[in-house]
Amino acid sequence: SDAKIVLGIESSCDETAVALVASDRTIIAQHIASQEKEHAPYGGVVPEIAARAHAERLAPMLEAVMDDAGMRLADVDAIAATAGPGLIGGVMVGLVSGKALAMAADKPLLAINHLEGHALSPRLADETLAFPYLLLLVSGGHCQILKVEGVGEYRRLATTIDDALGEAFDKTAKILGLGYPGGPAVEKLARGGNPKAVPLPRPLKGSKEPHFSFAGLKSAVMRAAQSGEHSSADIAASFQQAAVDCLIDRLEHALARTDAVPALVVAGGVAANQTVRSALEGLAAKHSMRFVAPPLALCTDNAAMIAWAGCERLPLGDSAPLDLKARPRWPL
Ligand code: KG4
Ligand code: ZN
Repeated sequence: SDAKIVLGIESSCDETAVALVASDRTIIAQHIASQEKEHAPYGGVVPEIAARAHAERLAPMLEAVMDDAGMRLADVDAIAATAGPGLIGGVMVGLVSGKALAMAADKPLLAINHLEGHALSPRLADETLAFPYLLLLVSGGHCQILKVEGVGEYRRLATTIDDALGEAFDKTAKILGLGYPGGPAVEKLARGGNPKAVPLPRPLKGSKEPHFSFAGLKSAVMRAAQSGEHSSADIAASFQQAAVDCLIDRLEHALARTDAVPALVVAGGVAANQTVRSALEGLAAKHSMRFVAPPLALCTDNAAMIAWAGCERLPLGDSAPLDLKARPRWPL
């Protein structure tokens, strides 16, 4: 076949990941290693520990992925590496590995924005998803609404003025003593709680501004926990409901102000949350839009989405110079 094969590398936060993806949407092989255990004692990601763990794991992981695929570097058409945004030490480890491979094999290097990886990942899972689409990108570091008009054509309609939603989930987990990473633990605990039990704010709900805010919600969760008047399950469920209400309100705001698009898409780690998913599904139905959510493994950080972004970018011919710098901040 004339499908191109891209090797993807992801190391911007606390997952080390390598994947081989073909432009016909086949995930040929992938490995992913979470650093949960290394960071858990600190209740969050420690940048220095993350960078070191990426450096230790990446080379053997690259070898394992090529072995699984039964391929050699010569069989690959391009190398795609996350070049930001993220924790700079980790990004540098992945990017410098990508540069070395590209140089050794004389293949183009594609420098991928991690957010673009999330933004295009739904197209890896669903070949019928065409541009444009409205994307809610909700992860540990970001909470944005984007109109995705094409590869490299992203119009940001809203972002958070303080915390990202995943961050709010993680802080709520910490307050409730659930440990790190917090999102899945809060979701699990919330299943046994009453989402109406604890009165919590919906920051910026109804605001004329398009943006998100979660700092006030986090503080209210802290006060509710300290009051001793509520069960942890009720706090978790009420927090999750407040967060979902904010998402829906802000998406309604965006939908009212943009030309109709056929699909509502969600990506990023928080897209793994079932309450979030079903609320978005309801919103899409109300607006006669298709709802597309990638499988859970493609929602949280992974290298298949980076390799796929490489597949989407390869035909554009924009390979990166080998002196390209990693970018801790890099808005889409
Ligand atoms: O996309 P991701 O893996 O990494 C970033 O690029 O940030 O997102 C990680 C975030 C974490 O804050 C985690 O707590 C959250 O996604 N998360 C969830 C769930 N699974 C992961 N939040 C709520 N419910 C979940 N099931
Ligand atoms: Zn991410």
